[in-house]
Amino acid sequence: AIDPQFTENRENVDEHNGHEVWGPVDEPEELGIHGTHVAVDFDLCIADGACLEDCPVDVFEWVDTPGHPESERKADPANEAQCIDCMLCVDVCPVDAIDVDAG
Ligand code: SF4
Ligand code: F3S
Ligand code: ZN
Repeated sequence: AIDPQFTENRENVDEHNGHEVWGPVDEPEELGIHGTHVAVDFDLCIADGACLEDCPVDVFEWVDTPGHPESERKADPANEAQCIDCMLCVDVCPVDAIDVDAG
């Protein structure tokens, strides 16, 4: 499962689509965590898609990640600021790749 303490245990190494990326990153095999309020561990995501289907405010968008061992696309929290903290995505992800900091 995604480490809920990732902001303490990882370093902010990059920015992508307006959100932060938390390392380590070593493309294409290691992609880190995308987002902060809505965080997706790209190294755990298997492209199940339930988060994209269920999010009521369309926070997630697919991004292609060719060469990653778990899946060739990931759910990117592209619209993280729209999140209403419903926690549906956290509940439906089969590999617990998502953390939402509802404060
Ligand atoms: Fe979307 Fe709810 Fe997840 Fe926020 S907590 S990203 S609103 S499904
Ligand atoms: Fe990935 Fe979990 Fe969504 S596997 S596509 S983050 S439901
Ligand atoms: Zn991203």
